[in-house]
Amino acid sequence: MSKHLILLGPPGGGKGTQAKKLQEDYGLVQLSTGDMLRAAVASGSEIGKKAKAVMEAGQLVSDDIVIGIIDERIKQPDAKKGFILDGFPRTVAQAEALDKMLTARGLKIDAAIEIRVPDSMIVERITGRFTCGKCGAGYHDSFQRPKVDGTCDSCGGREFIRRADDNAATVQQRLDAYHAQTAPILPFYEKKGCLRLVDGTLPIDQVTGHLKNIVEGKAVS
Ligand code: AP5
Repeated sequence: MSKHLILLGPPGGGKGTQAKKLQEDYGLVQLSTGDMLRAAVASGSEIGKKAKAVMEAGQLVSDDIVIGIIDERIKQPDAKKGFILDGFPRTVAQAEALDKMLTARGLKIDAAIEIRVPDSMIVERITGRFTCGKCGAGYHDSFQRPKVDGTCDSCGGREFIRRADDNAATVQQRLDAYHAQTAPILPFYEKKGCLRLVDGTLPIDQVTGHLKNIVEGKAVS
């Protein structure tokens, strides 16, 4: 199914967790600007050098950089299968630029889905998060532990990593950036008639179920 979806929501709201599930179930490609920027930082590229300090401070990287990254990425052949944008757009300028990119390719967003989670739950979500260093599968100290402690369910890897910006001090900056710069894009998609809402406080599998109903056109929320 070729769909073009946006997952919106606060840091730690479950966008990455759910994008991976939708990717597996529908053969869509997860396009995470956070992952792309972390790869740029790890590679030491010019973009990575510009982004590193901004990300560690919990602020947003400049619109020009992320718009350029997404413009390049959606031209790749695998994006023709349809994609799930995770962490983009994050400002009104990014939403408008995305609109232009898609219109130029004869595409449109099928659903922009807000995964809503209150700030009070976010610190625990983020400080407990870790991922497999080999395949990137995501876990949580309390909510999503590997079946066998210390071994990745997906690839058997035994090395896990925690993100540099996943600490209580930076989380508050990221939440502030979300409310000030990203939440204002919700009315943009509401006006287009494609904004949907999912309760992100539910257990992971229930959130996935609600998202799948939206993707398959079985629910209007
Ligand atoms: P990015 O990587 O996009 O981070 P984020 O938006 O802060 O989102 P997270 O990845 O932290 O959270 P998530 O919603 O994916 O949650 P997850 O599924 O992991 O961006 C990082 C930085 O890059 C930004 O701060 C910025 O500097 C820069 N950047 C990126 N994109 C940009 C852009 N477009 N413009 C400018 N700058 C940009 O879940 C979190 C944890 O909770 C996991 O451990 C998971 O297991 C657990 N969990 C998930 N769902 C549930 C549930 N329902 N119940 C219980 N636990 C759950």
